Amino acid sequence: MCYVRKTSDDYARGVLVSKQNGSRNKIIFLASVIVLIALLHYLTPTETMYNHKLHIIFRKLYFLPPVMAAAWFGLRGACATALVVSLLFILHAFLDWPGNYMEQANQVGELVGFWVAGVIPGWLFDRQRSLLQELANANEETLLGLVSALDLREHNTRLHSQRVREYTELIANRIGVDEKTKREIGFGALLHDVGKIAVPDQILLKPDKLTEEEWGEMRKHPDAGYRIVKRIGFLKEAAEIVFAHHEQFDGSGYPLGLKGESIPLGARMFMVVDAYDALTSERPYRSPMTYEEAAAEIKRQSGSHFDPVVVDIFMTIAPEQLREIAGRYQDQG
Ligand SMILES: [Fe+2]
Repeated sequence: MCYVRKTSDDYARGVLVSKQNGSRNKIIFLASVIVLIALLHYLTPTETMYNHKLHIIFRKLYFLPPVMAAAWFGLRGACATALVVSLLFILHAFLDWPGNYMEQANQVGELVGFWVAGVIPGWLFDRQRSLLQELANANEETLLGLVSALDLREHNTRLHSQRVREYTELIANRIGVDEKTKREIGFGALLHDVGKIAVPDQILLKPDKLTEEEWGEMRKHPDAGYRIVKRIGFLKEAAEIVFAHHEQFDGSGYPLGLKGESIPLGARMFMVVDAYDALTSERPYRSPMTYEEAAAEIKRQSGSHFDPVVVDIFMTIAPEQLREIAGRYQDQG
């Protein structure tokens, strides 16, 4: 088994620049490329044949920014960049070649080429992004269908996994992980009990206490889930959370008895919210706890069951936010 242990440091190292910062950096880079090409073009004299050749080569580089903008920002970005390039280029065509209509026509032809080089890839990149989004939505809906069926089998409720996913993402937001990591952690929470598909009904649904042997079977579900989920390319990180979702901070959990930060951060977050959801949900043998009662119980187990840092972060979440999620995923009947 190629289970890779993750610590919060690993996650911190893996945090990428936010989407907003990424876009700003791309805009700065694109503007720098445009300025560089303009400087190379305008500052290269045309007096000797050799320099004139260079001047013309630099002029042709104006097609690069619209293509880059198309790849990064789609059709709108490509059009905006082609407009900037056009303004720079038109100045050259009409100021440097007054009265030379043939050369001006030639350069306007080049200018049209810059627009074509931006607009067509821009449209294609937009289309590709929209298809990828549709594919991601379809994957998500398939996963939701699967976990709803599993939740219904065990809990007679369909929405436990979706609640814990959203609670986990609330903590992930507070910790400040990037969107990609948050999504992976969310999938891990959503799919945590997928391995229970391998647990026979007579054990999973047994109303009485389980025997030692039956517990042994039950304890296999994190590994079974890991083996199911790791096969799916975009769920590799989620698989680690599935594997470790019954590990406890003091090392008393299973399947490996991992301790402290050797438990993936996503699994440590999940443990807290899973307990919160269990405590605040209706059970046949007890009424749901209030937020205050559940929070007190979680605090009591901070440092033993749960990572104290995660518990502290969980306690900063407003109860109304948790209740809003619970209300949105309330099981009907
Ligand atoms: Fe589980």
